[in-house]
Amino acid sequence: MARHTAPMPRWWRPPSGTEPMYDETNTQNYYADQETAAQFEQKRFYGAFGRYLKAHDADFYANNPKVAYATCHTALELGAGSGRITEAMVSRQPHLQITATDRSEPMLAQLKQRPGLAQAGQRLIIRCTPAEALAHEPTSYDLVYFARLLMHIKDWQSFLQIAAGLSRNYLLFDFPPSASLGSWGRSVLDRSRHGAQHHDKYHTYNIAQVRQVLHEVGFELVWLYRPFVLPIPVHLKIGWPNGSLAIERAFKWFGLQRLLGAPAHMVARRITPPSPTP
Ligand SMILES: C[S@@+](CC[C@H](N)C(=O)[O-])C[C@H]1O[C@@H](n2cnc3c(N)ncnc32)[C@H](O)[C@@H]1O
Repeated sequence: MARHTAPMPRWWRPPSGTEPMYDETNTQNYYADQETAAQFEQKRFYGAFGRYLKAHDADFYANNPKVAYATCHTALELGAGSGRITEAMVSRQPHLQITATDRSEPMLAQLKQRPGLAQAGQRLIIRCTPAEALAHEPTSYDLVYFARLLMHIKDWQSFLQIAAGLSRNYLLFDFPPSASLGSWGRSVLDRSRHGAQHHDKYHTYNIAQVRQVLHEVGFELVWLYRPFVLPIPVHLKIGWPNGSLAIERAFKWFGLQRLLGAPAHMVARRITPPSPTP
C-alpha cells in the first residue's frame, strides 16, 4: 500500500547531484556501472578521514586481536568490491589462501588493478559471483568476512546462514545498526527524497536480532565494536581525524558509543561443528 508522506520543504532536500541511494533491488545495477566502480573509493573514503577509515577497517579485518589468524589456512571475502580489505588481508596475513568474491565485474576489475594484489599469485582467487550462489558449494573456509555488504541484503537472516555455513571458524562483518544517528538521519532523508511506497535505502539491523541469528546458525559473538557516534559522512566532511577522534572519545566517555556507535562490527566464532557436507 502506498505510504503518504507530506512533501518536505525545499531547504530540507539534498542538493541535486547527490549520489543516489540504493537497496537490494538496484544495488546490482549501481555497482555494475563502470564509473561508479571506478569512483567508489574516492567518493566513500576521501580526504584525511577517508584514509583513517581505510586503515581502521583494514585493522579490524586483517589484524583483529580476537582472531587467531595463524590457525586459519583459507579465507573467503564476500562482496570484496574494489579490494580495499582484500589488499590488507593479502599483505598482513601472507600465509592465507584468500578467495575474493563479488557480484560486480566492474568492482572486481578495480580490485585486479590494485598494486598489492598483482603479486599475490596463487594465494588469491578472484571470483565474480553473488554470495548467495556459494550456498551449495561444499567448500568451507576458516575465516569468512564481508565489509559494508550486509546493508545491501534484504533477507539478511538467510544471508548470515549462508555465510556461516561457509565458515569453519570465524565470521567477521559490519552493518549499520538501527540504533545510530546515521540510521535515523538516513531514514529522514529517505522520506524526504521519495515519500512513497518505494524508496531506496540501506537496510539497518537490530544488534540483538543479529546476535540471535548468529546463535541459531551455531556461532557466538566474541566481539561487538561500534566505533563512531557521528555518522561517517560527517567525519569525512570534518576531514580532520584527530578532531573526529577527540569528539568520539567524548561520546565514549558518556557511554554513547555503546548505545549509538556505528557501523556495528562483529567477530563471531563457531561453537557448533559444521554439519557434514553430503
Ligand atoms: C559498499 S561495497 C563494499 C566493497 C568492499 N567490501 C569494501 O568494504 O570496500 C558493496 C559491494 O558488495 C557487492 N555486493 C552487493 N550485493 C552482493 C551480493 N549479494 N553478493 C556479492 N556481492 C554483492 C557490490 O557489488 C559491491 O562491490
